Amino acid sequence: MTDTHNWQPASWRNFTALQQPAYPDDGALKSVQAEVSKLPPLVTSSEILALKQQLAQAQEGKSFLLQGGDCAENFNDCESGLISNRLKVLLQMSLVLVHGLRMPVVRVGRFAGQYAKPRSADMETRDGVTLPSYRGDFINGPEFTEAARIPDPRRMVKGHARSAMTMNFVRSLIDGGFADLHHPEYWDLGWVSQSPQSEQYRKLVQSVGDAIRFMETISGEAAHNVNRTEFYTSHEALLLPYEEAVTRQVPRQTGWFNLSTHYPWIGMRTAQMDGAHIEYFRGIANPIGVKISPSVTDEHIKRLCETLNPDNEPGRLTLIHRLGAGNVEKQLPRLIRAVQSTGAQVLWVCDPMHGNTESTSNGYKTRRFDNIKSELESSFDVHAAEGSHLGGAHLELTGENVTECMGGARDLGELDLERAYLSSVDPRLNYEQSLEIAMSIVHKHRSLR
Ligand code: PEP
Ligand code: CO
Repeated sequence: MTDTHNWQPASWRNFTALQQPAYPDDGALKSVQAEVSKLPPLVTSSEILALKQQLAQAQEGKSFLLQGGDCAENFNDCESGLISNRLKVLLQMSLVLVHGLRMPVVRVGRFAGQYAKPRSADMETRDGVTLPSYRGDFINGPEFTEAARIPDPRRMVKGHARSAMTMNFVRSLIDGGFADLHHPEYWDLGWVSQSPQSEQYRKLVQSVGDAIRFMETISGEAAHNVNRTEFYTSHEALLLPYEEAVTRQVPRQTGWFNLSTHYPWIGMRTAQMDGAHIEYFRGIANPIGVKISPSVTDEHIKRLCETLNPDNEPGRLTLIHRLGAGNVEKQLPRLIRAVQSTGAQVLWVCDPMHGNTESTSNGYKTRRFDNIKSELESSFDVHAAEGSHLGGAHLELTGENVTECMGGARDLGELDLERAYLSSVDPRLNYEQSLEIAMSIVHKHRSLR
């Protein structure tokens, strides 16, 4: 159990908090915080502790974490079709992984609270007008007007409600079984024939279908009744006044829980040892993640382990490396060795998205499928070579047929990006590219066995 001596949900206020909005009215902020702190939580402590145990299994190499969703949710996208398609692609990917890796998959969405974004500049100037940068729907609006850009604390209440609606719908879909999902006959697999690996992918899909039919025959039950799927949520816990307001004590449990999400993470830009985010995260009992960029030193990663998981509790700490395809072989070995030298137990996860962002000549922020795939594959190799193992993948994806990342089986190019680029922040894998990544993980994992 984390030592919460000298810690309170508000003790982050004694440290430097980066990436926070400047709210114009402190009284309004305080009254929103008081309101949020009374609203029902979005998750329970027993779910949080169950997830921690499952992550402990992944840490031991007995299961695999699939974490995915939008870079940023926005309030307008809190809509049934988008939510169910995102859940669908994640569940289909997880079936591919369960079958191909021969181990359970822990499913975690980047949703129901992924509303706050770090930005490289506090202000944005257009045509001589300077306004606060857009920091996510939790904080302000994307439109370039003063009304939209001045941070408004009421948005926290709206975001909390949107998160609750998202959770509620996800829970109902899962309880209802989402029946046809288990059957690859109903998946959109037209892209498979376009892939250079089409033969292999076709066989994989076929054997997933065979396995499910076999299980249904043996048990006399539909697949979704045999194995009730669990789904957990995560978001970057960036906006500390909100996170403070959703941090509670729970009867018959020790410690403090962030009850807005199961599995919050600290972003790359706010992982400073002396910063407010580390102070906040140190005191909560949730399983937590930290993004690890190439600039993290050996000393820094050791201190993250010490401070965030002083008792070396299994499942507590996930290190999500996002190094870029070109950096993995150079940077990952030293990071793994630094952690090993302390004896710290962590779950290692690869985010192959954020180190591979680039801009095209026609002005789109994009990522190449081959770089994403290559960062994942190299990460598997480096962990294996260092006597460690990669326990999961953290992806930005959507269930829609967007054109934001280049490449994949249909080989999307620069000109395709114009067709359906919908992300307001980072480029996401589309439905097909997401399934293809799941299949490529299986292929890679098999080659290591
Ligand atoms: C993100 O996950 O959307 C993000 C901003 O990542 P990072 O903190 O790794 O840059
Ligand atoms: Co992102």
